[in-house]
Amino acid sequence: MLADKLEWDAWSDDLSVGIHGIDHDHKGILDLIARLHEAYDAPHAEDAVRIAVARIARYADQHFQREERMLELAAYPWLPQHRARHDTFRAYVAEITTGTAPLPVVGELLSWLVDWWVGHIGTEDKQYRDHVQGCAKAVASVG
Ligand SMILES: [Fe+2]
Ligand SMILES: [Fe+2]
Repeated sequence: MLADKLEWDAWSDDLSVGIHGIDHDHKGILDLIARLHEAYDAPHAEDAVRIAVARIARYADQHFQREERMLELAAYPWLPQHRARHDTFRAYVAEITTGTAPLPVVGELLSWLVDWWVGHIGTEDKQYRDHVQGCAKAVASVG
């Protein structure tokens, strides 16, 4: 099944940004996404999926806040662009949790979420790696 495969494939050490607290958050969000298929199998699937996506949205928002705070402490010059990418995720999941968009089928939703996270971690998050690692205060802020 797709979701079983996702649990195997979504995280790989290639996605590490070399900052433990951030890697921990990223593994957590990919685990939540990998379990999303369970909500589609629930008796009241539409409600269950919207609730599961709301949980993902809350977790993601806490991560974004930690990450943006870390980038502020590191005086990262591309923080506005980085925050704008986070905002695209916030906007997509808000449409689902508020019911303003029709619920995507399971494969479409999982693909969008996994593609967004793997793409974002593998490109924009990795781009801050060297800059942030040069600032001990910023690294310490995420544990
Ligand atoms: Fe990010
Ligand atoms: Fe991140």
